[in-house]
Amino acid sequence: MLASRSASKQRLLACIIQVTNRHSNGRGAALMPSEQLRGLAAHAFRLRRKVFLSIKVEDLRDCTPKVPVVYRLGGVEDLTRFSDCFYGTYEDSNQYSLERLKAGDWLVLGELNGEVVFAGWVMFGKIDMGVRDLFDVDSDCVAAYRLFTRPDLRGNKLGPAYFAFLRSKLYARGIRRMVAWRELRNAESRKLKIGFTHIGIVWHLRILRRSFFWMPASVVASLRSG
Ligand SMILES: CC(C)(COP(=O)(O)OP(=O)(O)OC[C@H]1O[C@@H](n2cnc3c(N)ncnc32)[C@H](O)[C@@H]1OP(=O)(O)O)[C@@H](O)C(=O)NCCC(=O)NCCS
Repeated sequence: MLASRSASKQRLLACIIQVTNRHSNGRGAALMPSEQLRGLAAHAFRLRRKVFLSIKVEDLRDCTPKVPVVYRLGGVEDLTRFSDCFYGTYEDSNQYSLERLKAGDWLVLGELNGEVVFAGWVMFGKIDMGVRDLFDVDSDCVAAYRLFTRPDLRGNKLGPAYFAFLRSKLYARGIRRMVAWRELRNAESRKLKIGFTHIGIVWHLRILRRSFFWMPASVVASLRSG
């Protein structure tokens, strides 16, 4: 059972997790000194609040997208078809995608007239709290992450239809619960209506490429025991 918000606050600070980010420029590009400085400034100090969410797989609802998008599992060969366009702003994204596919994550693609217009990822038994900051969750639990609908098709229910597509596939694999997080300030992801339960807020402090997470004990308990 989920703890109330006030109980969560009392138990706040019960768990502090420190994870070192192994951060690199995956494209092997040589950075100019000024770019290095800009990059350093951007990474020097950043504080984010992440809303952690949970839902039973059986509670994922049916949804038909407003445009005839077809969903399927993707693989390494698909990455070049959308990765730069979808994740172009993220350093190291292609390398990360390759690593996650190798680790067994699912990449789900939504296609319209043969073009990739949606991508979403599923991680088994772990949740990535940043990038490569993995946290164990229950073995019958998956984490949904990196959802992206092509900007011109947002509002067409491609996000909800993706979760509907996952329901039977996950259930067949013995998966009973799905967790996720979204940035508190991300207005677009807040509008996505899937029926997730809010399980708490995790603070993510990033200082000089190192990540520190401040995770209430109630969130840890919820991620690990449902
Ligand atoms: C979050 C995201 C995947 C939602 O996907 P989606 O396919 O647009 O989902 P929906 O169609 O259900 O839209 C969700 C809400 O956003 C609104 N919306 C957001 N952008 C919109 C746009 N450009 N046009 C119309 N509606 C838009 C919709 O109206 C809808 O609200 P409603 O149900 O009250 O109508 C998508 O906005 C996205 O890719 N955002 C950028 C990446 C991101 O933030 N990912 C989530 C990380 S947790």
